[in-house]
Formats: sequence, structure tokens, C-alpha cells
Amino acid sequence: MKLHKAPFITFEGGEGSGKSTQIHILFERLLQMDIDVVQYREPGGTKGAEEIRSLLFEGEQERWSPTSEALLLSAARADLIQKKILPALEGNTWVLCDRYADSTLAYQGFGHELGEKPIKELNRFTIGDLEPDLTFVFQINAEIGLQRVADRKTHTDRFERNDILFHQRVQKGYDEILKKNPQRCIPINALLDIDRISQLIFDEVMKRFKDRI
Ligand code: TMP
Repeated sequence: MKLHKAPFITFEGGEGSGKSTQIHILFERLLQMDIDVVQYREPGGTKGAEEIRSLLFEGEQERWSPTSEALLLSAARADLIQKKILPALEGNTWVLCDRYADSTLAYQGFGHELGEKPIKELNRFTIGDLEPDLTFVFQINAEIGLQRVADRKTHTDRFERNDILFHQRVQKGYDEILKKNPQRCIPINALLDIDRISQLIFDEVMKRFKDRI
């Protein structure tokens, strides 16, 4: 793996897991420490990737097949890596990303059942050797997660309209990812309260990267 000095940290998990709230809390906390840090969400983060995001999120379920979806997500990711993530890391800026290649494995590989092997190959082609240094995987029961989303939104997007079995397969995908990457991936119990989770995350980040500040 290429050695970059600034850490690259990703946040993963099913719908309604609270990861976006937590990435924001960590981002603010690092800023307060005068650390150069940027945060992105996937798909998105560049003009082209945001355009792809709109294509993916709007319209009917049948608009894209799972294969087309995986390729569009990968195209958005490649653009974000090339234009934002790599330049940031090379400039010694920390990068936080709300979802990354693990999402494609969990959602398209497991959820849509495209399979582990083809999606791992696609991810390898898309990200090369740019693996995150640390990944927080938020774990939540699919029913509870979907209920949380339903409670806070009046409109669901294309992804959230997948059925409960799909979301259960996504959870299984994340369980596999945790099992196969015990060094990189840290499980987070999404049912703990917000302050407790943010402290766990901050402590883990400091434990691993305080020598890179
Ligand atoms: P969220 O991060 O706000 O939950 O929304 C992103 C949605 O996009 C979520 O439903 C998961 C989906 N997604 C995939 O299916 N595969 C991917 O590779 C990525 C990045 C996101």
C-alpha cells in the first residue's frame, strides 16, 4: 500500500444507522484540534459524482439494473478519488468519507446479490490500492434502521425503497466485511447514544493516528 501520512477514514453501515451524524461530529472535533481535514459523502463530492448521485437516487426502481448501479457508483468513486481524495491525502489533509467501496460490496454484492468476487474485482479496479486506514461499520437491525429513516423522512429515495430482505442481506454483507478485515474495520453498535458513540470513535482515531497530527 502507498504510504500517505494523513489518515483516510470511512464510515459504513445500513440505512438509519446514524453514521452521517457521527462523521460530522468527528469532523468538527478534528477541526477544533487544528487538523486539516475534509469530509465527503458517496456517491458525490465532485460535480460529476453529484450528477451521478442524482441519476441514481431519482426515478423508479427499475431505472438501473444492479450491474448498472454498481458501475455508476464506481464511476462516481473514481472521480472523487482522482479529483479530491488523492490530492487531499498527498497534501497531508485527513479525509473522512461517508461510504466507500465497502458499500458497493454490501449493497450491490450482497444486497442485490451480484456476488462477492465480481464486486471485489470491480472495487479493486476502481480504487487500486487506496484502501481506507480505518473503517467504522455501524451495525443496526434492518427493521429498526428502516423505521428510523421512515420517521425522519416524508420521501424515500430509490435505495431506501428496496425491501427488508434486501436490507438484511446488506447487514450480512457488512458482517462479512467485519470478519474479513478485523484490523481495518471497527464495529459500532448504532443503538448506543450519540455521545457514547462519538467518544468511542474519537478514542479509536486518537489511538491509531495521534502520531500523525
Ligand atoms: P446514505 O449514505 O445517505 O444512506 O445514502 C446512500 C445510499 O446509496 C444508501 O442507500 C446506500 C447506497 N449506496 C450503494 O448502494 N452502494 C454504494 O456503493 C454507495 C456508495 C451507496
